[in-house]
Amino acid sequence: MSAGVLIVGGTRFIGAAVVRRLVRLGHQVTVLHRGRTEAPLPPAVRHLHLEREALESALGRTAPDMVVDMVARTERDGTLAAAALAGRVQRVVVVSSIDVYRAYERLCRTAAGPPDPVPLGEDAPLRVTRHPRRAQARGPDDWRHHYDKLLVEQAYSAEPRLPLTRLRLPFVFGPGDYRRRVQALLERMRCSDEIVLGPREASWRCTRAHVEDVAAVVVLALTHPDAAGRIYNVGEERALSLAEWFRWVGHAAGWGGQVIALGPDPELPDWSQHMVVETTRLRRELGFREEVGLRRGLQQTVSAGLDGSSSAAKTNSDTILPGYARRRVQGSVYKWMPLSRS
Ligand SMILES: NC(=O)c1ccc[n+]([C@@H]2O[C@H](COP(=O)([O-])OP(=O)(O)OC[C@H]3O[C@@H](n4cnc5c(N)ncnc54)[C@H](OP(=O)(O)O)[C@@H]3O)[C@@H](O)[C@H]2O)c1
Repeated sequence: MSAGVLIVGGTRFIGAAVVRRLVRLGHQVTVLHRGRTEAPLPPAVRHLHLEREALESALGRTAPDMVVDMVARTERDGTLAAAALAGRVQRVVVVSSIDVYRAYERLCRTAAGPPDPVPLGEDAPLRVTRHPRRAQARGPDDWRHHYDKLLVEQAYSAEPRLPLTRLRLPFVFGPGDYRRRVQALLERMRCSDEIVLGPREASWRCTRAHVEDVAAVVVLALTHPDAAGRIYNVGEERALSLAEWFRWVGHAAGWGGQVIALGPDPELPDWSQHMVVETTRLRRELGFREEVGLRRGLQQTVSAGLDGSSSAAKTNSDTILPGYARRRVQGSVYKWMPLSRS
């Protein structure tokens, strides 16, 4: 049955994939965004050019059945949106991140302690530190100063009148990725037939997902009767190591080079903390199955050659830690180094 869906965001990478999928399924979609970022969306999509703080007025104008909050980044975002939406919609899906888990602060070395065992289920310990991107913020007005998906989730779930589903996303790749995760790797492969990783770095594992599969999860969470009140980790069951990921990308691109594991390892992050999440709940409760998957998704991304939205985009494809990027220091040797704040 078709429904009216309001997407907060929706004109960039993951959000645009969600919008296109909803339209294909026959839903009436409105995107609420400031009007600074546009994506090639179907003409049937209605645009409301507003700050997200004007959600209340957008609800008055569109009366949606369901809402997807793609871009809640701060506690205030969550608090304001939850208050505006309470009692007014059949379902709210809030897009969160696997950076809510304690494992993430162990990975970043911002909190001490032994690595958490993986895979991390939805009940795994949560971060005790707050604002994981503050160190990269240019000042208190920079959204990274206040960014915290854990606080977003808490603010949303504090409102009891919301049929809320929280989705914790892993590293997402695919055409349109403005972080250029795959594209920048391909650029390195074009310049070198050897990529050197530290041995522990090479075997570090994390969960990934193709953008179209993530969009399918968002739509499922929006429409499945059992998804209300639930939290779901999102991602592929198979979590490739960094060396495997590099090799898979190389294979998809027909690269003839090799990935070599050779010491020493960069000090940051803590390579003993893998970021692998358990996704069986999503499969068991909502019947989710990937339509694209890692291998096909990579092939599609590489052959589309559209992984980055612009060639001038910042090349930080391999970024595991916000604010750090792999940089070539000599020949084919790369190290993780802090990004300049300028
Ligand atoms: N990519 C990953 O690997 C990954 C991993 C984990 C979680 N996530 C989460 O997934 C979501 C990513 O969404 P995305 O890829 O679609 O892109 P995004 O860059 O997070 O969102 C951009 C969208 O939000 C709109 N927007 C930004 N600020 C706004 C504001 N103040 N008021 C109204 N609209 C605003 C933009 O349009 P305008 O510029 O026109 O306003 C655009 O439509 C985020 O929540 C992110 O934290 C991503």
